[in-house]
Amino acid sequence: MKVLCLAASPINSSTDEHSLLAIKSHIFTSDPNYPLASNWSVGTDFCTSIGITCSRRHPRATKLSLPYSGLQGTIAKEIGNLSFLTILDLTMNNLSGQLSNLETLDVLYNPLVGTVSEDHFAKLSKLLELSISSLKFKVKSDWVPPFRLQVLALESCNIGGQFPQWVQMQKELERLYMKNCSISGTLSNSFDNYKNLIYLYLSNNHIQGPIPNNFSQMLPSLHRLYLDQNNINESDTLSNSFDNYKNLTYLSLSNNHIQGPIPNNFSQMLPSLQLLYLDQNNINGSLPDSLCEMTSLYDMDLSGNHLSGNLPGCLGYLHKLEILKLSSNEISGIIPNSIGGASLLLFLNLNNNSLTGELPFTLKNCTRLVVMDIGENMFSGNIPKWIGNNLQALRLRNNKFYGHIPSEICQLYKLHILDLANNNLTGGIPNCFGNLSGMVVNVHYEDYINYGSFDEVLKGQERNYFYPISNYLINLDISNNNLVGKIPWELTKLSGLVGLNLSHNHFVGRIPKRIGHMESMESLDLSNNNLSGPIPSSLSDLSFLSHLNLSHNNFSGQIPTGRQLQTLDHDDPSIYEGNPQLCGAPIPKKCEEASMVPSITDNHVAANEGDNIIDDKVLLSIVIITGFATGFWGRWRQASFEFAEERIIRRLFRG
Ligand SMILES: *[C@@H]1O[C@H](CO)[C@@H](O)[C@H](O)[C@H]1NC(C)=O
Ligand SMILES: *[C@@H]1O[C@H](CO)[C@@H](O)[C@H](O)[C@H]1NC(C)=O
Ligand SMILES: *[C@@H]1O[C@H](CO)[C@@H](O)[C@H](O)[C@H]1NC(C)=O
Ligand SMILES: *[C@@H]1O[C@H](CO)[C@@H](O)[C@H](O)[C@H]1NC(C)=O
Ligand SMILES: *[C@@H]1O[C@H](CO)[C@@H](O)[C@H](O)[C@H]1NC(C)=O
Ligand SMILES: *[C@@H]1O[C@H](CO)[C@@H](O)[C@H](O)[C@H]1NC(C)=O
Ligand SMILES: *[C@@H]1O[C@H](CO)[C@@H](O)[C@H](O)[C@H]1NC(C)=O
Ligand SMILES: *[C@@H]1O[C@H](CO)[C@@H](O)[C@H](O)[C@H]1NC(C)=O
Ligand SMILES: *[C@@H]1O[C@H](CO)[C@@H](O)[C@H](O)[C@H]1NC(C)=O
Ligand SMILES: *[C@@H]1O[C@H](CO)[C@@H](O)[C@H](O)[C@H]1NC(C)=O
Ligand SMILES: *[C@@H]1O[C@H](CO)[C@@H](O)[C@H](O)[C@H]1NC(C)=O
Ligand SMILES: *[C@@H]1O[C@H](CO)[C@@H](O)[C@H](O)[C@H]1NC(C)=O
Repeated sequence: MKVLCLAASPINSSTDEHSLLAIKSHIFTSDPNYPLASNWSVGTDFCTSIGITCSRRHPRATKLSLPYSGLQGTIAKEIGNLSFLTILDLTMNNLSGQLSNLETLDVLYNPLVGTVSEDHFAKLSKLLELSISSLKFKVKSDWVPPFRLQVLALESCNIGGQFPQWVQMQKELERLYMKNCSISGTLSNSFDNYKNLIYLYLSNNHIQGPIPNNFSQMLPSLHRLYLDQNNINESDTLSNSFDNYKNLTYLSLSNNHIQGPIPNNFSQMLPSLQLLYLDQNNINGSLPDSLCEMTSLYDMDLSGNHLSGNLPGCLGYLHKLEILKLSSNEISGIIPNSIGGASLLLFLNLNNNSLTGELPFTLKNCTRLVVMDIGENMFSGNIPKWIGNNLQALRLRNNKFYGHIPSEICQLYKLHILDLANNNLTGGIPNCFGNLSGMVVNVHYEDYINYGSFDEVLKGQERNYFYPISNYLINLDISNNNLVGKIPWELTKLSGLVGLNLSHNHFVGRIPKRIGHMESMESLDLSNNNLSGPIPSSLSDLSFLSHLNLSHNNFSGQIPTGRQLQTLDHDDPSIYEGNPQLCGAPIPKKCEEASMVPSITDNHVAANEGDNIIDDKVLLSIVIITGFATGFWGRWRQASFEFAEERIIRRLFRG
């Protein structure tokens, strides 16, 4: 009997009602006034019923909590139909009647709900699958469990100490998942005779020492090994641990202390590898050509090491590669032409290395690219016109690109992040930037329910980086180049932009009056240009704005007053400094009568900019939106803009 399934199968809400009524019909209480009797009934909104919490987005039960309720009877098997249920708390009831038949127990409690001990399992001799998270797991070290599990999943359970004896007894295990359980010690003796083990996840513990020499013999069936965030200490990049380990397809050793070069025979050691995460270690040396023989690889992350030398010329022989992350190493040389052979690439992260040369034309073949981050290198040449139009993030910052921004970029209609900062670009902002429709709508960040890495890893849906790129961070940064001309009013069509940085260029003319329409804007930096004219009063309509810099331009007239501008960090006069003709609070210079321009004229002038769509509705919404900003303020305090960008980009890859 399957008791509680985490998978989000598309059963609808009437199914939940049916299931809850079935559950109710199997339980009773000696207290006639217990509200459950009248409360859970046909046709009522079960989301408001006692003990039930629904998802914020759908009328689906996510939590069923009736602790200390004096309930008796059995738990109906329909509980397995509550497919959105993540928390089941039936602590201290008398519902154990049927539980001895349980084969699966997924108890994903809230933190701090309770402690699990031997007694809870005394009757569960038929248990095959056990999943528990965020519970204190307290059993005696010599506990002999009554069950022989096939699946054990514990997360944040604070077991502590060495790999527990009672788990070592579970020789039938096929999947073992113990994440963040404070387990220490080495792997040497813990894994004898797990002949059936195919998945081993021990992420985020305190496991030390090297991976044992005969690991591939100890666990001959293993397909997936996750040991990331431990203290694994290999002095010679795994060269002794794996020997022709054909069954291993996923290997994650991120965030450990692995040293030395990648062995030349790595591809013979792990010939079937599809996923390789060795990021955040101390691996050095260059990438061996033999890496190109690992033709099953689709996801490789070696970022955050000390890799040097060139990229292997044969890199593109990895035809299945979808994700290539080599960020933050010391790799030099060019991107080899063969890269076009990796035509399935979705994510290419080469940022923060010492790569040079122009981007190879063969990259045009990688039409699926969603993220290309090659920032912080020494690439030169023009920005290519042929970049694939599935890109959602293009990050070229801190390189030596020169020439104009090609108008072909405007065809990247999915682009959310365009970062060309710190290059040597010339010319103007193409008017067609207003066509970047990916930057137009910003659905402000909404928590999506993450059904949990827990479930994903167990059920094999681990490609969670396919979540759509968050709409939350839409960013255009072309700062610190040699760009000239006016800020095209079309730019203000990009109402989804959260950050806009045009600073440190040679822009002239006025701030487009419609700037107030860029209603998602949180950070606006126009500093260090030659912009002039008045600061449009519509700026104060940017109700999310929490970072503004207009310093070192030639703005004149009165600094607009408006609720938003007053609540900015922005009693701070430095955001206006270097504009000798500005006056009014927060700078000390007082305005003369003539410069007190009423704000309404700004909106009339706007019509001259090809903008004849300001109507009452817009003005009304501006009034209503103003003043929403405070909630977003805290977020800005915590993280600089770049940090936020980094975080989003990271999330894309790791989910
Ligand atoms: C919900 O599911 C029930 C049975 O599973 C079905 O009869 C009903 O039509 C479904 N309702 C919707 C809105 O899909
Ligand atoms: C069930 O009980 C809760 C809390 O006592 C109450 O708020 C809710 O209105 C009740 N619902 C029904 C349908 O009686
Ligand atoms: C609900 O669960 C019962 C028993 O587990 C099962 O027979 C039934 O098909 C399930 N209903 C749906 C809609 O999945
Ligand atoms: C628990 O329920 C069983 C019957 O389901 C009953 O025999 C037993 O007395 C109950 N125990 C307590 C402590 O109420
Ligand atoms: C790890 O587990 C502890 C409880 O043992 C919990 O407090 C902490 O939040 C968990 N950390 C993560 C990253 O899940
Ligand atoms: C790979 O695993 C299968 C069982 O899944 C096993 O029969 C086989 O012997 C293993 N291969 C090696 C090379 O150990
Ligand atoms: C890889 O090379 C190491 C020594 O460099 C050797 O010990 C190991 O057996 C080799 N493995 C394979 C599969 O060739
Ligand atoms: C790699 O690092 C080790 C020390 O950790 C050092 O002895 C060795 O020379 C380094 N190799 C290269 C190629 O930098
Ligand atoms: C482009 O990709 C295709 C497969 O999609 C491949 O056959 C071709 O060789 C690649 N071209 C280059 C120049 O790498
Ligand atoms: C930037 O380009 C100009 C010519 O367009 C050139 O004179 C200048 O040296 C370049 N600056 C850098 C830092 O490469
Ligand atoms: C792109 O922008 C240009 C100039 O702003 C405009 O003429 C053209 O119609 C736009 N193209 C699309 C596809 O929107
Ligand atoms: C804008 O870009 C400049 C130069 O690249 C940088 O110094 C500044 O911090 C950026 N502003 C914001 C708000 O990120």
